[in-house]
Amino acid sequence: MTKKEKIAFGRLNQMRNDQIGKNKKIRIGFVGGGPNSFIGYSHRLASRFDNRFEFVAGVFSRDIKKSISFGQSLGLSKDRCYDNFITMAKKESQRGDGIEAVGVMTPSGDHYKIIREFVANKVHIICDKPLTATIKDAVRLEKLIKKSKVIFALTHNYSAYPMLREAKEIVANGSIGKINLINVEYPQGYTVGVKRKDQKNTLKWRLDKRMAGPSMILAEIGTHAYHLMRYVTNLEVKEVAAEVNSISSEVTVDDNAFLIVRMNNNARGSIWVSSAATGGENGLKIRVYGTNGALEWFQDDPNNLKFTELNKPTQIITRASSTVSEFSIRSSRIAAGHPEGFFEAFANIYTEFADSIIDYKKNKKSKLIHPSIQDGVKGIKFIFAAKKSSNLNSKWIKI
Ligand SMILES: NC(=O)c1ccc[n+]([C@@H]2O[C@H](COP(=O)([O-])OP(=O)(O)OC[C@H]3O[C@@H](n4cnc5c(N)ncnc54)[C@H](O)[C@@H]3O)[C@@H](O)[C@H]2O)c1
Repeated sequence: MTKKEKIAFGRLNQMRNDQIGKNKKIRIGFVGGGPNSFIGYSHRLASRFDNRFEFVAGVFSRDIKKSISFGQSLGLSKDRCYDNFITMAKKESQRGDGIEAVGVMTPSGDHYKIIREFVANKVHIICDKPLTATIKDAVRLEKLIKKSKVIFALTHNYSAYPMLREAKEIVANGSIGKINLINVEYPQGYTVGVKRKDQKNTLKWRLDKRMAGPSMILAEIGTHAYHLMRYVTNLEVKEVAAEVNSISSEVTVDDNAFLIVRMNNNARGSIWVSSAATGGENGLKIRVYGTNGALEWFQDDPNNLKFTELNKPTQIITRASSTVSEFSIRSSRIAAGHPEGFFEAFANIYTEFADSIIDYKKNKKSKLIHPSIQDGVKGIKFIFAAKKSSNLNSKWIKI
C-alpha cells in the first residue's frame, strides 16, 4: 500500500487491526489512577485504543474498599481487584492467565518499590513520569530493568503527537540545518489563587518531597519539557542554569521554573514551566531554530506544524497530509482534517509498548520507539541539576 493510499482510504486503522489479528491481546493491570485521577483514566483508555491490551486486574487506591469498588465499577472481577500492589504481583503471578504487563501511575516516590515487585515476576512495565523521586531510586530501577530484560516504557505522552514526530523527522533529515536555538514552554495556572489552608486539596501528595522529589513544578511538567527538547532535536542538555521557586506566597512548593540550557552541539535553549501563570491552561509549545529553517508547534493546535525555510514564507504542515513522513503517518489514526489530540498521542505510547513486547517475545530484542528507562533516569538527573543550580543562585550545573 502506498502512503497516499493509506491516507486516502483511512487504512491506518485497518493496519492496526491487522496487528491485533496477528497477536493475542496482552493482559494488563494497573496500579494507581483511582476515581479522581485524570491520568489513570488516560492510561486505561490509551491501553485499549488500538485493542492491543486486555484490562484484567488492578489496585487503584491505598483504601481497600475504594480500590475494590472502583475496580468493579470498571468491569473487573472482584478477585482481580486488589488491596495492595504486593498482593497483586503475587496473586497474578500464580495464575495461568495472570497479567503480562502493568501500568504504574501512583505518586512517583513509590514507583521503585512497586515496579520491583512486578519485575520479579517478569511483568513488562509502563510507568508515568517522573520515573522516581530520587536519583538513587532511578539508577536502581535502571539496573533492575536491564538485568531482568523486561520491556519498560515511560509515558512522556507529548512526544507521541504525530506532528512532533514530523518535527523530529524534519530535524533529522537536516531541513532546518544545524540547530542554534530551542525554546520549550509549558505555562499552567492551577496554583494561582490557592490559599495555604487549601493547598492540600489541589496539590495532594505533591506537597511531600518523598513522593514528588525536590521540585514540584519540575517533576510535574519540567521533565516533559526537557524530554520534548531532547526528543525533537535529538540533542542532549549538557548544562543548566535555573531559577526554580514559588511565585505564590501561599503555596509551599515550587510553582515556577525558568531554565537556560547549553546543548551538546553548543546550541542554546530555554525552558519555562509554571503553574503560576494566571489563566494558563496546558500551553505547551516548542520552537526550534536552525541555520536553514525553523519549526514551531503548539499543543492548542496539535494537528499543525509551522515550518519556515530560510528566506521563505512560513508553511503549515497538516497532520496526515501527503508530504509527511512515514513515522508521522504511523502515529496518526484518521485522515487529515479530522482533529486528533491528547488521548491518541497517549495511545501511541501504549501501542508502541505492545509492539515492543511482541517483538521481544519473538526476537529476544526490540527497538524501542517509546521513551525508555534511560530517558526516565536522565529526567531525574535533570530535575536535581536544575534545583541545585537554583539553590546556588543560578550557577551553571553539568548534567
Ligand atoms: N503524563 C502526564 O501528563 C501526567 C499527568 C498527571 C500526572 N502524571 C503522573 O501520574 C502519577 C500520579 O499522578 P495523579 O495526577 O494521578 O495523582 P492523583 O493524586 O490524582 O492520583 C493518584 C492515584 O493513585 C492512587 N494511589 C496512590 N498510591 C497508591 C498505591 N500504593 N496503590 C494503588 N493506588 C495508589 C490514589 O488513590 C489516586 O487515585 C504521578 O507520577 C504524576 O507525575 C502524569
